[in-house]
Amino acid sequence: MKCLLDEGLIQTKVQELSLKIRKDYASHSLVVVGVLKGSFIFMSDLVRELDGLDITCDFLRVSSYEGQKSRGQVHLDFDLTQSIEGKHVLLIEDIVDSGTTLEFLKAHLTHKKPLSIRVVTLLYKEEIKPHLKSQLDYIGFTIPNVFVVGYGMDQDGQYRHLRNIYVLGDSA
Ligand code: IMP
Ligand code: MG
Repeated sequence: MKCLLDEGLIQTKVQELSLKIRKDYASHSLVVVGVLKGSFIFMSDLVRELDGLDITCDFLRVSSYEGQKSRGQVHLDFDLTQSIEGKHVLLIEDIVDSGTTLEFLKAHLTHKKPLSIRVVTLLYKEEIKPHLKSQLDYIGFTIPNVFVVGYGMDQDGQYRHLRNIYVLGDSA
């Protein structure tokens, strides 16, 4: 395993992102929606940097990956527990790769009639779908097309608890 982004870099980035988000939502209440499981560590670091904003947190869970491969179909395992109708929503993703999950989630959330939806992702594999950039409101790091684990991200459930982000296996 090769370290791609260490804890210090990640924490600096989380602070940078939170400054922008704070500015944009200074006078609005916000529902922060974490996409489980991958975003749980990023979300917990990020929301603590949003101390002072008017926030509620909710979660949904989708699955599509097996090992290092997307099955191409997104399954909603469980949904939000509150209405987001008429509310500003910030969707928190760990990583945007093919964009299939993002597309699914945006359509799913749009049906619930929120006032706005913005997306923050810690990582973005730009090479795969460069045009997706315009749909991402806040991007932490743009990374090459490699499979990463750590800081919430897994391969078959492993490595989520690691503090750094690593490139795994064949793609290292
Ligand atoms: P997409 O639908 O292909 O954009 O993939 C989105 C989801 O797949 C992410 O939220 C992750 O859960 C997972 N994923 C994609 N790439 C990686 C990776 O490199 N490491 C771990 N999980 C990944
Ligand atoms: Mg995910």
